Amino acid sequence: MGNKYAVVTFGCQMNIHDAERIRGALDAGGWSECGTEEADAIIFMTCCVRESAEQRFYGRLSSVKPLKEKRGTVIAVGGCLAQKEGLRLMEQAPYVDVVFGTHQYPHIADLLAQTARGRLCSTDLSGVCLSGVPCSRFDDFRAWITITHGCDNFCSYCIVPYVRGGEVSRPMQEVAEEVGAHVTAGVREINLLGQNVNSYRRKEEGRSRFADLLRVLGNRYPDPWIRFTTSHPRDFDSEIMRAIAETGNVCEYVHLPLQAGSDHMLAVMNRGYSRDEYMHKVAELRASVPGVSVTTDLIVGFPGETEEDFAATMEVVERCRFDAAFTFLYNARERTAAAGLPGEIPVKVKQARLQKLMEVTRKMTSESMRSELGTDQTVLVHGPSRKNPRRWSARSRTNKLVHFERGDDDLKGAFARVHITAAGNWSLQGTLREILS
Ligand code: SAM
Ligand code: SF4
Ligand code: F3S
Repeated sequence: MGNKYAVVTFGCQMNIHDAERIRGALDAGGWSECGTEEADAIIFMTCCVRESAEQRFYGRLSSVKPLKEKRGTVIAVGGCLAQKEGLRLMEQAPYVDVVFGTHQYPHIADLLAQTARGRLCSTDLSGVCLSGVPCSRFDDFRAWITITHGCDNFCSYCIVPYVRGGEVSRPMQEVAEEVGAHVTAGVREINLLGQNVNSYRRKEEGRSRFADLLRVLGNRYPDPWIRFTTSHPRDFDSEIMRAIAETGNVCEYVHLPLQAGSDHMLAVMNRGYSRDEYMHKVAELRASVPGVSVTTDLIVGFPGETEEDFAATMEVVERCRFDAAFTFLYNARERTAAAGLPGEIPVKVKQARLQKLMEVTRKMTSESMRSELGTDQTVLVHGPSRKNPRRWSARSRTNKLVHFERGDDDLKGAFARVHITAAGNWSLQGTLREILS
């Protein structure tokens, strides 16, 4: 086998970051990255959170079959769907050489080498190595850092705990050292990653150390912006809110998935909080972190969801005035507790509810955008806009997309101050006031 590889990634930021680790391990082992057409090995990182994610992957997988036939390209499939399907995937796609699970990615070079002796499937979930795995970032100026891996929450609809294993937190010193290395390399934004960052080290130390982590990182490295995802409303507490408010470089942005707005739905989803507790936390957060942007995830059509339950979701959404919401149709996932529940909601009803919910959340997002009109925003410039390369695409501290005209300076990866002159449904437009650094 030659030594050129391509990585194709589906799914959430955790998978994208695991793909960065795979690139790191292969780059360190003398491999080099290229496009799928020239690759000696193509590595897929897959997602199974909803069926649509699985279908997207299977469509893409079949498109590389001719490469296997023509060039003998090694096909490797890793990530969450690979963990879930294991041998079934090997049977279904005989041209796949290796299937590897969510705890195996540090061993990728070895796994690829072993394909010379035959096909293999490696999906042991008994321990993940999070230390000392090299990382080749997709982005020069933004870095993602795993602080917790896996999840212990078992929300009744969710497959993640089954495919990523139990929650494990990395030591604070190790996280701080990794952040330090990124800062030395010129990174401007640090993103702390976990399925539930708010329970960081609770299992290991008996209490959550997430607020402490924000303060330690903010004190040691005051220059880069710090973001984190995802927060769990049950574990998101006043101490964390204070740490966000008091740590200057922690951005005023919290993604706080509500999922549903009736106490009954929240209980059957096993979320561990009530609607009132959730609304109190959002109110407290808005009071303690001025200007904070709060976004959420919502699921409609969970088994047994009545019109009253759905109305309760709409009511909590109206009261919380989210800055943006990601809305999903419930999709049964095998092995999860909800998969066996009676009371399936007809597709038409689900879709009608989704439409109604999306109308309201769309309006809220555009109101939130309009509220920035006439303000000055500090932004981090990500690069030329994909739609209009004559403009820069940037994000504000509150994670809003901001576009502004490009001049002669190369501002990619720079902080800048932009005056907001127009607001669309999903983004803002502005004019450059000042390049900050
Ligand atoms: N750990 C995060 C959390 O607790 O929100 C992220 C979990 S998941 C990767 C992202 C979102 O997908 C969830 O917040 C939920 O809204 C949605 N989701 C998960 N399982 C789902 C399912 N079976 N059907 C529809 N949406 C689902
Ligand atoms: Fe899934 Fe719930 Fe864990 Fe999020 S907290 S990954 S929704 S089980
Ligand atoms: Fe992420 Fe999908 Fe796995 S959302 S954790 S890649 S199932």
